[in-house]
Amino acid sequence: MRTEVAIVGGGPAGLLLAHLLHQAGVATVVLEQRSREAVEHTIRAGVLEQGTVDLLGATGLGERLSRDGVVHHGIELRFGGRGHRIPLSELTGGRAITLYPQHEVLRDLISARLVAGGPLLFGARVTHLDNSPGRLPRLRYEQQGIETTLNCDFVVGCDGFHSIVRSAIPQRREFQTTYPFAWYGILQEGPPLAPELIYTHHARGFALASTRTPSLQRLYLQCPPDTQSEDWSDAHIRHELGLRLATADGAPITCCGKIIQKDVVAMRSFVCETMRHGRLLLAGDAAHIVPPTGAKGMNLALNDIRLLAPALVSAVRHGDDQLLQQYPADSLVRIWRAQRFSGWMTRLLHQMEDADPYQQRLQQTELERLVSSRAAALALAEEYVG
Ligand code: DHB
Repeated sequence: MRTEVAIVGGGPAGLLLAHLLHQAGVATVVLEQRSREAVEHTIRAGVLEQGTVDLLGATGLGERLSRDGVVHHGIELRFGGRGHRIPLSELTGGRAITLYPQHEVLRDLISARLVAGGPLLFGARVTHLDNSPGRLPRLRYEQQGIETTLNCDFVVGCDGFHSIVRSAIPQRREFQTTYPFAWYGILQEGPPLAPELIYTHHARGFALASTRTPSLQRLYLQCPPDTQSEDWSDAHIRHELGLRLATADGAPITCCGKIIQKDVVAMRSFVCETMRHGRLLLAGDAAHIVPPTGAKGMNLALNDIRLLAPALVSAVRHGDDQLLQQYPADSLVRIWRAQRFSGWMTRLLHQMEDADPYQQRLQQTELERLVSSRAAALALAEEYVG
Protein backbone atom coordinates (compact mmCIF):
# COMPACT_ATOMS: atom_id res chain seq x y z
CA MET A 1 0.00 0.00 0.00
CA ARG A 2 1.15 3.56 -0.57
CA THR A 3 0.09 6.97 0.67
CA GLU A 4 1.54 10.45 0.88
CA VAL A 5 1.29 10.95 4.65
CA ALA A 6 0.92 8.08 7.12
CA ILE A 7 -0.60 9.32 10.37
CA VAL A 8 0.01 7.10 13.38
CA GLY A 9 -2.66 7.75 16.01
CA GLY A 10 -6.32 8.68 15.62
CA GLY A 11 -6.63 11.14 18.50
CA PRO A 12 -7.45 14.83 18.08
CA ALA A 13 -4.07 15.66 16.49
CA GLY A 14 -4.02 12.76 14.02
CA LEU A 15 -7.60 13.19 12.93
CA LEU A 16 -7.42 16.98 12.55
CA LEU A 17 -4.26 16.54 10.46
CA ALA A 18 -6.04 13.99 8.25
CA HIS A 19 -8.96 16.40 7.86
CA LEU A 20 -6.80 19.40 6.89
CA LEU A 21 -4.61 17.39 4.53
CA HIS A 22 -7.68 15.92 2.86
CA GLN A 23 -9.05 19.45 2.33
CA ALA A 24 -5.76 20.32 0.61
CA GLY A 25 -5.87 17.21 -1.57
CA VAL A 26 -3.07 15.29 0.18
CA ALA A 27 -3.60 11.53 0.59
CA THR A 28 -3.36 10.13 4.11
CA VAL A 29 -3.85 6.86 5.98
CA VAL A 30 -4.70 7.05 9.69
CA LEU A 31 -3.68 4.08 11.84
CA GLU A 32 -5.28 3.89 15.28
CA GLN A 33 -4.48 1.10 17.69
CA ARG A 34 -7.72 1.28 19.67
CA SER A 35 -11.26 0.49 18.56
CA ARG A 36 -13.60 3.25 17.37
CA GLU A 37 -15.78 2.54 20.39
CA ALA A 38 -12.84 3.10 22.79
CA VAL A 39 -11.75 6.30 21.01
CA GLU A 40 -15.23 7.79 21.03
CA HIS A 41 -15.97 6.96 24.66
CA THR A 42 -12.75 7.57 26.61
CA ILE A 43 -13.32 10.55 28.88
CA ARG A 44 -10.58 13.15 28.63
CA ALA A 45 -10.39 16.91 29.16
CA GLY A 46 -13.09 19.26 28.04
CA VAL A 47 -11.82 22.84 27.86
CA LEU A 48 -11.23 24.44 24.46
CA GLU A 49 -9.32 27.70 24.15
CA GLN A 50 -10.77 30.45 21.99
CA GLY A 51 -8.15 29.75 19.29
CA THR A 52 -9.06 26.05 19.23
CA VAL A 53 -12.75 26.85 18.80
CA ASP A 54 -11.88 29.26 15.99
CA LEU A 55 -9.62 26.67 14.31
CA LEU A 56 -12.26 23.92 14.41
CA GLY A 57 -14.91 26.35 13.17
CA ALA A 58 -12.75 27.61 10.30
CA THR A 59 -12.14 24.07 9.04
CA GLY A 60 -15.81 23.10 8.96
CA LEU A 61 -15.92 21.23 12.27
CA GLY A 62 -17.81 23.78 14.31
CA GLU A 63 -21.44 22.80 13.85
CA ARG A 64 -22.05 20.64 16.95
CA LEU A 65 -19.40 22.57 18.87
CA SER A 66 -21.22 25.88 18.41
CA ARG A 67 -24.54 24.25 19.27
CA ASP A 68 -23.52 22.09 22.26
CA GLY A 69 -20.37 23.77 23.57
CA VAL A 70 -20.90 25.92 26.65
CA VAL A 71 -19.01 29.20 26.73
CA HIS A 72 -17.54 30.22 30.10
CA HIS A 73 -16.42 33.78 30.74
CA GLY A 74 -14.71 33.23 34.08
CA ILE A 75 -13.33 30.70 36.53
CA GLU A 76 -13.34 30.61 40.31
CA LEU A 77 -10.24 30.24 42.45
CA ARG A 78 -11.21 28.95 45.88
CA PHE A 79 -8.87 28.98 48.86
CA GLY A 80 -9.05 29.76 52.57
CA GLY A 81 -12.73 28.82 52.35
CA ARG A 82 -13.54 31.67 49.94
CA GLY A 83 -14.22 31.85 46.26
CA HIS A 84 -12.75 34.53 43.99
CA ARG A 85 -13.87 35.00 40.40
CA ILE A 86 -11.29 35.56 37.67
CA PRO A 87 -13.29 37.35 34.94
CA LEU A 88 -11.50 35.86 31.93
CA SER A 89 -13.46 37.66 29.22
CA GLU A 90 -13.45 41.05 30.92
CA LEU A 91 -9.67 40.82 31.36
CA THR A 92 -8.87 39.58 27.84
CA GLY A 93 -11.04 41.78 25.65
CA GLY A 94 -13.85 39.25 25.28
CA ARG A 95 -11.96 35.97 24.87
CA ALA A 96 -13.51 32.92 26.54
CA ILE A 97 -13.19 29.16 26.94
CA THR A 98 -15.68 26.60 25.68
CA LEU A 99 -16.59 23.43 27.55
CA TYR A 100 -16.91 20.70 24.94
CA PRO A 101 -15.60 17.22 25.76
CA GLN A 102 -12.62 15.83 23.85
CA HIS A 103 -14.54 12.69 22.85
CA GLU A 104 -17.13 14.92 21.17
CA VAL A 105 -14.33 16.63 19.21
CA LEU A 106 -13.24 13.11 18.22
CA ARG A 107 -16.74 12.14 17.11
CA ASP A 108 -16.88 15.24 14.91
CA LEU A 109 -13.47 14.46 13.42
CA ILE A 110 -14.29 10.79 12.83
CA SER A 111 -17.53 11.66 11.02
CA ALA A 112 -15.68 14.22 8.87
CA ARG A 113 -13.16 11.53 7.97
CA LEU A 114 -15.86 9.02 7.10
CA VAL A 115 -17.64 11.60 4.91
CA ALA A 116 -14.32 12.33 3.18
CA GLY A 117 -13.90 8.60 2.59
CA GLY A 118 -10.24 8.57 3.62
CA PRO A 119 -8.76 5.46 5.24
CA LEU A 120 -9.10 5.46 9.03
CA LEU A 121 -8.07 2.07 10.35
CA PHE A 122 -9.04 1.14 13.91
CA GLY A 123 -7.36 -1.73 15.75
CA ALA A 124 -4.27 -1.15 13.58
CA ARG A 125 -0.98 -1.53 15.46
CA VAL A 126 2.30 -0.37 13.94
CA THR A 127 4.80 -3.22 14.29
CA HIS A 128 7.78 -1.78 12.44
CA LEU A 129 8.95 1.58 11.18
CA ASP A 130 11.79 1.66 8.66
CA ASN A 131 13.38 5.06 8.34
CA SER A 132 16.69 4.13 6.71
CA PRO A 133 18.61 7.12 5.34
CA GLY A 134 18.31 7.78 1.64
CA ARG A 135 14.91 6.17 1.12
CA LEU A 136 11.29 6.93 1.80
CA PRO A 137 9.89 5.73 5.13
CA ARG A 138 7.99 2.49 5.29
CA LEU A 139 5.92 1.07 8.08
CA ARG A 140 4.28 -2.24 8.81
CA TYR A 141 1.07 -2.55 10.73
CA GLU A 142 -1.04 -5.41 11.94
CA GLN A 143 -4.84 -5.36 11.84
CA GLN A 144 -6.94 -8.42 12.67
CA GLY A 145 -3.92 -10.68 12.38
CA ILE A 146 -2.94 -9.41 8.91
CA GLU A 147 0.35 -7.53 8.39
CA THR A 148 0.45 -4.80 5.75
CA THR A 149 3.35 -2.68 4.50
CA LEU A 150 2.64 1.00 3.97
CA ASN A 151 5.04 3.10 1.90
CA CYS A 152 4.78 6.84 2.29
CA ASP A 153 6.46 10.20 1.83
CA PHE A 154 6.08 11.23 5.48
CA VAL A 155 5.15 9.58 8.78
CA VAL A 156 3.55 11.72 11.47
CA GLY A 157 3.49 10.39 15.02
CA CYS A 158 0.31 11.56 16.72
CA ASP A 159 0.44 8.42 18.83
CA GLY A 160 0.65 9.79 22.34
CA PHE A 161 3.24 9.70 25.07
CA HIS A 162 4.30 6.10 24.29
CA SER A 163 4.82 7.05 20.63
CA ILE A 164 6.37 4.39 18.44
CA VAL A 165 7.28 7.10 15.90
CA ARG A 166 9.19 9.07 18.54
CA SER A 167 11.10 5.93 19.53
CA ALA A 168 12.31 5.65 15.90
CA ILE A 169 14.05 9.05 16.18
CA PRO A 170 17.65 8.61 17.34
CA GLN A 171 19.32 11.17 19.61
CA ARG A 172 16.29 13.10 20.75
CA ARG A 173 16.46 16.23 22.83
CA GLU A 174 14.04 15.59 25.69
CA PHE A 175 13.12 17.36 28.93
CA GLN A 176 10.84 16.11 31.67
CA THR A 177 9.73 16.39 35.24
CA THR A 178 7.25 14.45 37.36
CA TYR A 179 4.94 15.40 40.23
CA PRO A 180 4.43 13.52 43.50
CA PHE A 181 0.64 13.33 43.03
CA ALA A 182 -2.09 12.44 40.55
CA TRP A 183 -5.73 13.40 39.98
CA TYR A 184 -8.60 11.17 41.00
CA GLY A 185 -11.31 11.93 38.42
CA ILE A 186 -15.00 11.11 38.52
CA LEU A 187 -18.05 11.61 36.34
CA GLN A 188 -21.10 12.30 38.43
CA GLU A 189 -24.73 12.60 37.46
CA GLY A 190 -26.54 15.76 38.47
CA PRO A 191 -26.43 19.49 37.74
CA PRO A 192 -23.21 21.57 37.73
CA LEU A 193 -21.90 22.51 41.19
CA ALA A 194 -21.50 26.10 40.01
CA PRO A 195 -21.96 28.11 36.81
CA GLU A 196 -18.17 28.23 36.22
CA LEU A 197 -15.21 25.90 36.92
CA ILE A 198 -13.89 25.93 40.48
CA TYR A 199 -10.15 25.41 41.08
CA THR A 200 -9.61 24.82 44.80
CA HIS A 201 -6.48 24.95 46.92
CA HIS A 202 -7.08 23.20 50.25
CA ALA A 203 -4.95 21.73 53.05
CA ARG A 204 -6.24 18.26 52.09
CA GLY A 205 -5.23 18.78 48.47
CA PHE A 206 -6.39 20.34 45.21
CA ALA A 207 -9.93 19.87 43.89
CA LEU A 208 -11.51 20.91 40.59
CA ALA A 209 -15.20 21.05 39.79
CA SER A 210 -15.71 20.99 36.03
CA THR A 211 -18.67 20.02 33.88
CA ARG A 212 -19.55 17.95 30.84
CA THR A 213 -23.28 18.45 30.25
CA PRO A 214 -26.11 20.05 32.23
CA SER A 215 -26.67 16.64 33.86
CA LEU A 216 -23.10 15.22 34.01
CA GLN A 217 -20.25 16.69 36.04
CA ARG A 218 -16.50 16.08 35.96
CA LEU A 219 -14.69 16.41 39.29
CA TYR A 220 -11.05 15.87 40.22
CA LEU A 221 -9.22 15.46 43.53
CA GLN A 222 -5.48 15.50 44.14
CA CYS A 223 -4.46 11.99 45.25
CA PRO A 224 -1.24 10.02 45.88
CA PRO A 225 0.42 9.07 42.56
CA ASP A 226 0.01 5.30 43.05
CA THR A 227 -3.77 5.50 43.68
CA GLN A 228 -5.90 3.00 41.73
CA SER A 229 -9.45 3.95 40.75
CA GLU A 230 -10.83 1.04 42.87
CA ASP A 231 -9.08 2.41 45.97
CA TRP A 232 -11.60 5.17 46.72
CA SER A 233 -15.19 4.40 47.70
CA ASP A 234 -18.04 6.72 46.68
CA ALA A 235 -18.35 7.73 50.33
CA HIS A 236 -14.66 8.66 50.52
CA ILE A 237 -14.86 10.69 47.30
CA ARG A 238 -17.91 12.59 48.55
CA HIS A 239 -16.28 13.19 51.92
CA GLU A 240 -13.14 14.65 50.27
CA LEU A 241 -15.14 16.78 47.84
CA GLY A 242 -17.26 18.11 50.70
CA LEU A 243 -14.23 19.09 52.76
CA ARG A 244 -12.09 20.53 49.98
CA LEU A 245 -14.83 22.51 48.26
CA ALA A 246 -16.41 23.83 51.48
CA THR A 247 -16.70 27.60 51.83
CA ALA A 248 -16.65 29.58 55.05
CA ASP A 249 -20.10 31.02 54.32
CA GLY A 250 -21.36 27.46 54.05
CA ALA A 251 -22.85 27.64 50.54
CA PRO A 252 -24.15 24.10 50.04
CA ILE A 253 -22.19 21.70 47.84
CA THR A 254 -24.28 19.29 45.82
CA CYS A 255 -21.99 16.31 45.45
CA CYS A 256 -24.49 13.53 45.80
CA GLY A 257 -25.37 12.42 42.25
CA LYS A 258 -24.55 8.89 41.13
CA ILE A 259 -20.85 8.40 40.35
CA ILE A 260 -20.71 6.65 36.98
CA GLN A 261 -16.98 6.61 36.27
CA LYS A 262 -13.72 6.75 38.24
CA ASP A 263 -10.23 7.15 36.79
CA VAL A 264 -6.78 8.35 37.79
CA VAL A 265 -4.99 10.98 35.70
CA ALA A 266 -1.17 10.92 35.81
CA MET A 267 0.79 14.17 36.10
CA ARG A 268 3.93 14.78 34.12
CA SER A 269 5.65 17.45 32.10
CA PHE A 270 7.56 16.32 29.02
CA VAL A 271 8.96 17.93 25.87
CA CYS A 272 10.74 16.23 22.98
CA GLU A 273 12.21 19.13 21.04
CA THR A 274 13.23 16.84 18.18
CA MET A 275 9.84 17.04 16.52
CA ARG A 276 11.25 16.39 13.05
CA HIS A 277 13.78 13.82 11.91
CA GLY A 278 13.97 13.74 8.12
CA ARG A 279 10.57 12.50 7.02
CA LEU A 280 9.36 11.60 10.52
CA LEU A 281 7.36 14.22 12.42
CA LEU A 282 5.79 14.39 15.86
CA ALA A 283 2.70 16.25 17.05
CA GLY A 284 0.60 16.39 20.22
CA ASP A 285 1.29 14.11 23.19
CA ALA A 286 3.91 12.20 21.20
CA ALA A 287 6.09 15.31 21.52
CA HIS A 288 4.87 16.98 24.70
CA ILE A 289 2.79 16.42 27.82
CA VAL A 290 1.61 19.01 30.34
CA PRO A 291 0.07 18.30 33.73
CA PRO A 292 -3.71 18.68 33.32
CA THR A 293 -4.12 21.80 35.49
CA GLY A 294 -5.27 24.49 33.07
CA ALA A 295 -6.38 21.97 30.41
CA LYS A 296 -3.81 22.82 27.78
CA GLY A 297 -3.12 19.30 26.38
CA MET A 298 -5.59 19.04 23.53
CA ASN A 299 -5.31 22.74 22.69
CA LEU A 300 -1.57 22.38 22.25
CA ALA A 301 -1.94 19.23 20.16
CA LEU A 302 -4.33 20.99 17.79
CA ASN A 303 -2.04 23.99 17.58
CA ASP A 304 0.78 21.70 16.38
CA ILE A 305 -1.52 20.57 13.58
CA ARG A 306 -2.42 24.15 12.66
CA LEU A 307 1.28 24.64 11.90
CA LEU A 308 2.11 21.18 10.58
CA ALA A 309 -0.72 20.81 8.04
CA PRO A 310 0.34 23.68 5.72
CA ALA A 311 3.98 22.63 6.10
CA LEU A 312 3.19 19.11 4.89
CA VAL A 313 1.03 20.43 2.04
CA SER A 314 3.90 22.59 0.89
CA ALA A 315 6.35 19.67 1.09
CA VAL A 316 4.12 17.08 -0.59
CA ARG A 317 2.60 19.33 -3.26
CA HIS A 318 5.50 21.64 -4.09
CA GLY A 319 8.54 19.75 -2.80
CA ASP A 320 9.30 22.74 -0.57
CA ASP A 321 10.23 21.66 2.95
CA GLN A 322 11.10 25.06 4.38
CA LEU A 323 7.96 25.20 6.54
CA LEU A 324 8.58 21.66 7.73
CA GLN A 325 12.06 22.62 8.85
CA GLN A 326 10.59 25.53 10.75
CA TYR A 327 7.77 23.49 12.30
CA PRO A 328 9.54 22.41 15.54
CA ALA A 329 10.81 25.91 16.35
CA ASP A 330 7.41 27.47 15.56
CA SER A 331 5.53 24.92 17.67
CA LEU A 332 7.97 24.96 20.56
CA VAL A 333 7.28 28.63 21.32
CA ARG A 334 3.72 27.75 22.28
CA ILE A 335 4.70 24.40 23.81
CA TRP A 336 7.15 25.94 26.29
CA ARG A 337 4.68 28.68 27.15
CA ALA A 338 2.10 26.05 28.00
CA GLN A 339 4.72 24.08 29.94
CA ARG A 340 5.41 27.13 32.05
CA PHE A 341 1.75 27.93 32.59
CA SER A 342 0.63 24.36 33.38
CA GLY A 343 3.55 23.77 35.75
CA TRP A 344 2.91 27.10 37.48
CA MET A 345 -0.85 26.44 37.85
CA THR A 346 -0.03 22.98 39.22
CA ARG A 347 2.43 24.26 41.83
CA LEU A 348 0.11 27.14 42.70
CA LEU A 349 -2.90 24.99 43.51
CA HIS A 350 -1.69 21.62 44.82
CA GLN A 351 -0.40 20.60 48.20
CA MET A 352 3.27 20.15 47.46
CA GLU A 353 4.41 17.35 49.78
CA ASP A 354 7.95 18.63 50.08
CA ALA A 355 7.00 22.30 50.63
CA ASP A 356 8.42 23.75 53.84
CA PRO A 357 6.43 26.36 55.82
CA TYR A 358 8.25 29.17 54.01
CA GLN A 359 7.22 27.82 50.60
CA GLN A 360 3.66 27.35 51.84
CA ARG A 361 3.53 31.06 52.77
CA LEU A 362 4.80 31.98 49.31
CA GLN A 363 2.09 29.81 47.71
CA GLN A 364 -0.52 31.56 49.86
CA THR A 365 0.86 34.96 48.91
CA GLU A 366 0.76 34.10 45.24
CA LEU A 367 -2.90 33.04 45.47
CA GLU A 368 -3.81 36.23 47.29
CA ARG A 369 -1.98 38.34 44.75
CA LEU A 370 -3.91 36.71 41.91
CA VAL A 371 -7.21 37.80 43.39
CA SER A 372 -6.12 41.27 44.45
CA SER A 373 -3.95 42.45 41.55
CA ARG A 374 -5.57 43.04 38.16
CA ALA A 375 -2.18 42.62 36.50
CA ALA A 376 -1.66 39.20 38.12
CA ALA A 377 -5.20 38.06 37.23
CA LEU A 378 -4.72 39.30 33.67
CA ALA A 379 -1.51 37.26 33.32
CA LEU A 380 -3.42 34.14 34.37
CA ALA A 381 -6.44 34.93 32.19
CA GLU A 382 -4.34 35.58 29.10
CA GLU A 383 -2.65 32.19 29.28
CA TYR A 384 -5.81 30.37 30.34
CA VAL A 385 -7.94 31.49 27.37
CA GLY A 386 -4.96 30.89 25.04
C1 DHB B 1 -10.96 19.89 32.94
C2 DHB B 1 -9.67 19.46 33.00
C3 DHB B 1 -8.69 20.32 33.38
O1 DHB B 1 -7.43 19.91 33.43
C4 DHB B 1 -8.97 21.63 33.71
O2 DHB B 1 -7.97 22.45 34.09
C5 DHB B 1 -10.24 22.06 33.65
C6 DHB B 1 -11.25 21.20 33.26
C7 DHB B 1 -12.02 18.97 32.54
O3 DHB B 1 -11.74 17.79 32.30
O4 DHB B 1 -13.17 19.39 32.46
